[in-house]
Amino acid sequence: MSDRRIDPVTGTETTGHSWDGIEELNNPLPRWWLWAFYGTILWGVIYVILFPAWPMVTGATKGVLGWSTRANVAAEIAAVEESQAALRASLTEVDLRLIPENEELHSFAINAGAAVFRTNCSQCHGSGAAGALGYPNLLDDAWLWGGTVEDIAYTVRHGIRNEADPDARYSEMPAFGEILTDEEIATLVAHVQSLPSGQDPLSGPGGELFDLNCTACHGMDAAGMRELGAPNLTDAIWLYGNSDEQLTEVIRYGPFGVMPPWGERLSEAEVAAVSVYVHGLGGGETQVGENDVPEGAGAIDAAPSDPDEVPFPDEAGDTGGEDAAAVIETDEAATQ
Ligand code: HEC
Ligand code: HEC
Repeated sequence: MSDRRIDPVTGTETTGHSWDGIEELNNPLPRWWLWAFYGTILWGVIYVILFPAWPMVTGATKGVLGWSTRANVAAEIAAVEESQAALRASLTEVDLRLIPENEELHSFAINAGAAVFRTNCSQCHGSGAAGALGYPNLLDDAWLWGGTVEDIAYTVRHGIRNEADPDARYSEMPAFGEILTDEEIATLVAHVQSLPSGQDPLSGPGGELFDLNCTACHGMDAAGMRELGAPNLTDAIWLYGNSDEQLTEVIRYGPFGVMPPWGERLSEAEVAAVSVYVHGLGGGETQVGENDVPEGAGAIDAAPSDPDEVPFPDEAGDTGGEDAAAVIETDEAATQ
């Protein structure tokens, strides 16, 4: 350009731009900057050749290294699964009652079980497993169907009152609205409400009705029957609530809690893990009917509270399955 000139003070050429008499010197770029700039261009070209870079219609250019985050994640998952395969296999092979004795397996089961619970169970039982109206609390030691880890695993595998699994736990409280008068139902409501405070289940007009209509499932002592999933009515824990309206509804129409079966949807290892998890939430029992023992019945020795003393079949000979069955029978005999 015509008005380029050499600046007399610095001896450097000007660019010819001038603002209000201030002129721009045409200093060369610093060498280090220039090389860094060329370096980034070179680096960019090499990167584009080696790695996925340019977006295309259905993906991106692949790059000659074939690197992919997706493949990396898949490989990592495969590696983790391989490292867990042994634990997973043990979960399906080991007697569920023995899992707490192996620290590594136990913590694996608890973690995996918690994940299974979050995904599959929390929508009904609550994220903290505390349940809701109609959905039992799994943290306490009040069990409808049983709280040993095997009981829990059976419930999880087959579900309750569903049509999908022929082995689902099943029972049905009749709709007494078709059998009893409104007055009789009102008497029973008041009677049931008084049971937790120690009212004799069989005395008074309510007791008479209870004896005739309810003891077959809830027991002479109103403490429930696990073989039928009939709740204990003396423990002040109410699955369906204990207001006048709620109890009237329960007795009039009969409750019918349904839980889906998980045996098909979850793997055996997942069923085992979630059962161990639920069992460990606080209410888990170590022996059939541990919390069911009628006082003074003498049928079962109280289960040892120290898990180390639990008599496992392979350690203590014949204290396993047969005894458990015998306990159920004694229980039944006691309540009939
Ligand atoms: C669609 C709702 C639903 C889902 C999902 C569900 N449950 Fe249940 N569950 C129930 C209901 C309802 C009952 C009570 C049935 C009854 O009244 O006997 C129940 C009962 C149980 C019981 C028996 C409690 C007792 O006192 O004996 C256990 C154990 C249990 N659920 C565990 C699980 C686990 C573990 C999962 C996840 C794998 C799960 N449930 C998913 C609805 C559900
Ligand atoms: C054929 C067995 C059977 C008979 C008979 C029966 N029940 Fe039930 N009852 C059940 C079962 C099973 C449940 C639990 C159902 C469920 O979980 O959905 C239940 C639940 C209840 C509940 C709800 C408890 C709670 O925790 O919310 C009450 C209350 C109750 N029964 C009262 C009675 C009364 C009163 C009678 C007699 C008039 C009676 N039942 C007769 C089986 C029976």
